[in-house]
Amino acid sequence: ITVDTTYKQPYRPQYHFSSRTNWINDPNGLVYYDGEYHLFYQHNPFGNQWGHMTWGHAISRDLVHWQELPPAIPEEGATMIYSGSCVIDKTNTSGFGQDGRVPMVAIYTGARQDNQSQHIAYSLDKGRTWIKYARNPIIDLKRKDFRDPKVFWHEPSQHWVMIVLLPTDKKALFYKSSNLKEWTKAGEFTANDSPASIWECPDLVEVPVDGTMERKWVLMLSMGNNGPAGGSGMQYYVGQFNGSTFINESKPGELRYVDWGKDYYAAITFNNLPRRGNRGAISIGWMNNLQYANDVPTTPFRGAMTLPRELRLVKVPAPVNRYELRQQPIQELKPLLGPTFQWTGTDVAQLNQSLASNSLSSDTYWLQLELEAAKTGVGVRVKKEEAAQGKGEETVIGYDPASQQLYVDRSRSGHVGFKKEFPGRFTAPLKPQNGRISLQIWVDRSSIEVFGNNGEVTLTNQIFPKSDSRGIEFFGEGLRSVLIRSVEPIWK
Ligand code: FRU
Repeated sequence: ITVDTTYKQPYRPQYHFSSRTNWINDPNGLVYYDGEYHLFYQHNPFGNQWGHMTWGHAISRDLVHWQELPPAIPEEGATMIYSGSCVIDKTNTSGFGQDGRVPMVAIYTGARQDNQSQHIAYSLDKGRTWIKYARNPIIDLKRKDFRDPKVFWHEPSQHWVMIVLLPTDKKALFYKSSNLKEWTKAGEFTANDSPASIWECPDLVEVPVDGTMERKWVLMLSMGNNGPAGGSGMQYYVGQFNGSTFINESKPGELRYVDWGKDYYAAITFNNLPRRGNRGAISIGWMNNLQYANDVPTTPFRGAMTLPRELRLVKVPAPVNRYELRQQPIQELKPLLGPTFQWTGTDVAQLNQSLASNSLSSDTYWLQLELEAAKTGVGVRVKKEEAAQGKGEETVIGYDPASQQLYVDRSRSGHVGFKKEFPGRFTAPLKPQNGRISLQIWVDRSSIEVFGNNGEVTLTNQIFPKSDSRGIEFFGEGLRSVLIRSVEPIWK
């Protein structure tokens, strides 16, 4: 059998990462080194379902165009290679370096049927080949569930820090090390206000606060269920890190979601990014939901990553009085944007007419909408296909001023019947700013990412439209301006 390894199959993401064939889940080991961004990921090299967990590998020079390389760290007998992170050991604290070659060190969970423990491996050739440490595991608590280490260098205390989870206890453990091999327990964090049944894939990252010299620490956690749209999702806390443990400053009981859509999981941030002014952290997530990840109707690949996002904080003044996450697609995506369609006015019927006669040049595109929120419901139907007897398709992105909610409705988005949890309408709370709502919408073949009011809220959802439909139609009275640009594919 020959497998089609082009990027042209139905539903194949055109500007999001997916593997040529087979299953992927969490991004792992996001790290920058010597001109290359590395995206490792949970991968089954043998099939289109979860299993045989291996670290797959892709690299990029611009965070946008990815090249898939052979799998990096394969499963070893009965030990699968679960999620984890990568660091660049510049001063060779580990002693893995040789002949001045700087080691890239991967820290991951070795998962057996009844035991999960933390392991390391290193590479001296920029992540192409890996050597597992002879004395693995480096931390073993003899637990069945103990996973997803995120490691980073903590400059002020001059040591490596690991945050790793006891998922079923919803407890984050902190360890420190001077050489990446020997680790001492330094602290713990738990929060009894989380509705999640389990936590997975933690990240702890320092993020700049807009318009200040201040930086705060954000703890991001993936929730196995009870996410904002049902099923899995992500929450975060804002606070401080003293080198030993996270000090939560979020108000108790104030649940904060990273994304409000159905398909945002296991996002982590890059280590060792080049310093560029006051740029924020950069994250990538897995665009899926544990409720149906094994069932999404794609072949010969299954699973895709989100767009990389820049993370910042803003200090929202009283009465809200808290630090909130803001997320924006990274600047590096701009060169993908092609020809522009532009409209300002009030006559939506006229807009729809001119769109119908112009028709979009691409079925992957980017939209920017300015809405006046004081009017009736307003928004846009994308991937719209008329058909008799109500069998048409569309995905609706809109704003409901009465409830002050942004929503994405994929109930009739195309192929939705593969799992009962898939169809639905998902919402995020969003208040107008000076009477206005602004939306940035990224439409790919099988996903829609919406950024509301400059990343105050985001809604990430997969869709599986039956055709590569280009139909687009605006509705409601509050629309003030529209910008549409095609998005070029990243695959040659
Ligand atoms: C999250 C997760 C992680 C684990 C990995 C296994 O999706 O369950 O906790 O390390 O996937 O593939």
